[in-house]
Amino acid sequence: MAVGRRIALVTGASSGIGAEFARQLAGRGYDLILHGRRLDRLAALAAELSAAHGIAAEPLAADLAVEAGIAAVAARISALPELGLLVNNAGFGIGRGFAEADVAGQAEMLAVHMLAPMRLSHAALPAMLARRAGGIINVASLAAFMALPGNVNYCATKAYLLTFSQALAGEVGRRGVKVQALCPGFTVTEFHARPAQGGVGPDRAPRWLWGSVSAVVAASLRAFDRGQVVCVPGAVNRMIAAVARTGLVNRLAPGVLYRLES
Ligand SMILES: NC(=O)c1ccc[n+]([C@@H]2O[C@H](COP(=O)([O-])OP(=O)(O)OC[C@H]3O[C@@H](n4cnc5c(N)ncnc54)[C@H](OP(=O)(O)O)[C@@H]3O)[C@@H](O)[C@H]2O)c1
Repeated sequence: MAVGRRIALVTGASSGIGAEFARQLAGRGYDLILHGRRLDRLAALAAELSAAHGIAAEPLAADLAVEAGIAAVAARISALPELGLLVNNAGFGIGRGFAEADVAGQAEMLAVHMLAPMRLSHAALPAMLARRAGGIINVASLAAFMALPGNVNYCATKAYLLTFSQALAGEVGRRGVKVQALCPGFTVTEFHARPAQGGVGPDRAPRWLWGSVSAVVAASLRAFDRGQVVCVPGAVNRMIAAVARTGLVNRLAPGVLYRLES
């Protein structure tokens, strides 16, 4: 990665929302570090985007559920000449209730959704603050506004990301660094091809609830440009978030979800 070029690092860039961030940022002229665990996918995307946009792109394989993986990505960030944008996007779901699901998998979720974004942000900020430039996008979820049975740690970790982003934006915004919590609703990605891990097949939710990765990422980058701290893409999702903020969804969810299951 060359000095003087804008560089973005995207975690979870091997599919879905992360791969789309890589595509749209390449279109904006960023050099890219593409993180994930599936190195073959990352290498193919890096080659495609370098050829299409004349940018530099390199894959970076690391498991963010383990300390060594988080440390490796943090070290790569610290070694960069300058990082323009960090996108903390890697994430996954768990398709079972808290008491039934394997506790090790839930601890991994806490590492990927909370510990990794916190550590990577901490690694990225000193150089951004010194330059009074750059920013961080944390991919949370509409679930951050809710407390849903069956998604206990998913909602809790995404709520952490939302609050973390809002508080951090308050700290570093006046020092020239932008922070955004991106809170998408249902988005068509590989996440939902894995019902056993909490994915919702498109047939299990009405068509009008679904958004595309291109619309989600375009909304995020537009909001980032104007310094908006919380981005909920789509009018329907903004309405859902507004209702959820009243607490109504949390009061109704246990009855509704358990009735649907029985
Ligand atoms: N799709 C939705 O409806 C939706 C809605 C709201 C929020 N989100 C959030 O959006 C983000 C992206 O999800 P997506 O929908 O694009 O799903 P996806 O297509 O399954 O992509 C998930 C990405 O996260 C990476 N990842 C997962 N576990 C990892 C680990 N332990 N270490 C490193 N990387 C890991 C995956 O890479 P590898 O498999 O190569 O490691 C993959 O690139 C997630 O944080 C998700 O919670 C999604």
